[in-house]
Amino acid sequence: MIKKEMLYEGKAKQIYKTKEDDKLIVLFKDDATAFNGEKKGQISGKGIMNNKISNIFFKLLADNNVPTHLLEEISETEVLVRKLEIIPVEVVMRNIAAGSLAKRLGLEEGTVMSQPVLEFYYKDDDLGDPMINEYHIYAQKMADREEIARIKELSFKINELLIDFLKDKGIELVDFKLEFGKGSDGKIYLGDEISPDTCRFWDSETREKLDKDRFRRDLGGVEGAYQEILRRLQG
Ligand code: C5P
Repeated sequence: MIKKEMLYEGKAKQIYKTKEDDKLIVLFKDDATAFNGEKKGQISGKGIMNNKISNIFFKLLADNNVPTHLLEEISETEVLVRKLEIIPVEVVMRNIAAGSLAKRLGLEEGTVMSQPVLEFYYKDDDLGDPMINEYHIYAQKMADREEIARIKELSFKINELLIDFLKDKGIELVDFKLEFGKGSDGKIYLGDEISPDTCRFWDSETREKLDKDRFRRDLGGVEGAYQEILRRLQG
C-alpha cells in the first residue's frame, strides 16, 4: 500500500492517506509525551513495540467480535486501518484506582474498585481533555444515544476480554483509554491503539508498573517495561 501525504501528526503517531479513500496508514513514533504535552521525550523502540502490542490486542478483540479499525500490519511501525470519523470522546475504563481517579476521589493507588468504572473525556488538547458525562455528549452532539450505548457495551466487553487474556500473562489491567469512530458503513469501530502508552499494566505479583507511568513519574526502566509487556504477550 502506497503511503501518500501526511494527514495529521499526533503526539505518538502519524496518519497518512493512501490511494484508497477509506483506508489510512498509521505510523507509531518513538516520541512520548505526558501531562498534555508538557513533558516530552523519546522511548527508544517504542514505535515498533507499541505497533506489535496494539496489534496483538486488536487481533484478540477482532477474534471476539469487537469491530476494530485494524486491517493489516504493513511494517514494524505501520498498520493499514479503516478510515473512521473519530468520535471526540475518550473512554477510560478502570478496574483499580490509580492516576487521576485516585487523586479525584482521594483513594489510595491500588484500591480495587468493586466494579469496573467507565468515564468519558472530551478529546480536546486545548482544554486538556476535560471529564464529561453523557449529557455533555448529547448536548454538544458529540455522539447520539445509540452510539454511546454501543460504545459502552463494547468498552465493558473489551475490559473483560483484556482482563482474561492478561491474567495468564501475570499482568493486572489497572485502567486504559479507548477511542471509537464511525466507519463509512455507519458502524462503530474501535480506533487508536491499546498499548503501554494508553493502559496501566501492573505485574500481578509485585505490582511493578509496566507502562507509561515509568516515563510520567521518572521511574527509569521505561524501555524495559514495554519490552516486558511485549515479551509476555508473545509468550
Ligand atoms: O490519567 P488518568 O488516570 O485519567 O488515565 C487513565 C488511563 O487512561 C491511563 O491508562 C492512561 O494511560 C490513559 N489515558 C490515555 N490518554 C489520555 C488520558 C488517559 O491513554 N489522554
